[in-house]
Amino acid sequence: MAKVLIIGAGGVGGVVAHKCAQEREVFDDVLLVSRTLSRCEKLQREIAEVQGRDIRVGQVDADDVAATTRLLEHEKPAVVINVALPYQDLSIMDACLNAGVDYLDTANYEPPDVAKFEYKWQWAYRDRFRDAGLTAILGSGFDPGVTNMYCAHAQKHLFDSIKYVDILDCNGGSHGKAFATNFNPEINIREITARGRYWEKGEWKETDPLSVSAVFDYPGVGERKSFLLYHEELESLALNLRGLERIRFWMTFGEAYLKHLEVMGNIGMTRIDPVMYQGHPVVPMKFLKELLPDPSSLAAGYTGKTSIGCLIEGVKDGKPRKVFIYNICDHAACYREVRAQAVSYTTGVPAVTGAVMITKGLWKRPGVWNMEEMDPDPFLEDVGKRGLPWVVQERAVAGAVGA
Ligand SMILES: NC(=O)c1ccc[n+]([C@@H]2O[C@H](COP(=O)([O-])OP(=O)(O)OC[C@H]3O[C@@H](n4cnc5c(N)ncnc54)[C@H](OP(=O)(O)O)[C@@H]3O)[C@@H](O)[C@H]2O)c1
Repeated sequence: MAKVLIIGAGGVGGVVAHKCAQEREVFDDVLLVSRTLSRCEKLQREIAEVQGRDIRVGQVDADDVAATTRLLEHEKPAVVINVALPYQDLSIMDACLNAGVDYLDTANYEPPDVAKFEYKWQWAYRDRFRDAGLTAILGSGFDPGVTNMYCAHAQKHLFDSIKYVDILDCNGGSHGKAFATNFNPEINIREITARGRYWEKGEWKETDPLSVSAVFDYPGVGERKSFLLYHEELESLALNLRGLERIRFWMTFGEAYLKHLEVMGNIGMTRIDPVMYQGHPVVPMKFLKELLPDPSSLAAGYTGKTSIGCLIEGVKDGKPRKVFIYNICDHAACYREVRAQAVSYTTGVPAVTGAVMITKGLWKRPGVWNMEEMDPDPFLEDVGKRGLPWVVQERAVAGAVGA
């Protein structure tokens, strides 16, 4: 039995807290802390009502390494699940090193003033975690996270060598709002408005934002126009998949969503540099976040499904092979179980699974690791039982990738 400490009480943090509370055999003490105590208290009441379990709550500003270290030294959890924002990754990793606690997150560090998605800042902690005998698992959400595990499963069991990977992410759901993002608006819009990037034959190729699209047929949803984006798991998978020739990431967006995004971009509302307003510096993107619906508030009326997976092509026993490994998740079913929509659910469930892997010693390995560097077998078995079952579908090899 172990104590788990969750940092961040947003859409994803809520799912993580609910799912840890369900896990009575693994976590005998669940502590949820965040910057705003009232959000933790609201979740505490909800979890008592829905899961019939008391969790503890507290307040911490995770940008403050000393305060976070004090909290960890006092509580001595077995593992920290960081589901605050990417800006807090390094300060929470520092606090974990100070207090001697294992670490897990779902998104790579981003500097607040530059929209840059790279693992270099967190990979720089490898020696310190290894020397301290501590485990840090990076990107244990869905994408990154489960998608890395699908690739690791394919590499371990389905292919001798993998040539092409296309990660396909579709939210076929509807929340009924004119415009809203499914996770933190600031992080989400920074990701989508960045230049596209994919890896081919050892080189990164750049594209203008949202300039490359293709139509894919998503199981459980149907055909959807999908746009090529840069996504952080490409960086580690390009290094860790043997024989890889190309890896890309695609995400679906509706016309109305893209039109809103274009207008907001044109008028400067997605800028992340401060502008002076009546003598005060204001970052337009941060102000915009305050105006947009809180992603966790979308959950109650959300209908439809997410369908996310990896289209993988390569060679097995001398013959070409192509598979699509995917999960379908229903927004309304997530709401019934943990009062959340499927985007938060598909992130929170793998975070808990990763934490269980560390706590049970299955992934206890000093250092800083991307998901595909760990054994996918116990993770995929567990994540399926925990609410995200997965399917391996054989596809015909002839034709273009994605055909
Ligand atoms: N891998 C994946 O598949 C995937 C998918 C979606 C999201 N994510 C990641 O999941 C994380 C959470 O997303 P979300 O949608 O839940 O975001 P969210 O709804 O905005 O919640 C973020 C939470 O972090 C708290 N927080 C922010 N700064 C903090 C600080 N300095 N100290 C302590 N707590 C702080 C916020 O507190 P306040 O209430 O005070 O603002 C809020 O409770 C993000 O890193 C996101 O990138 C990963």
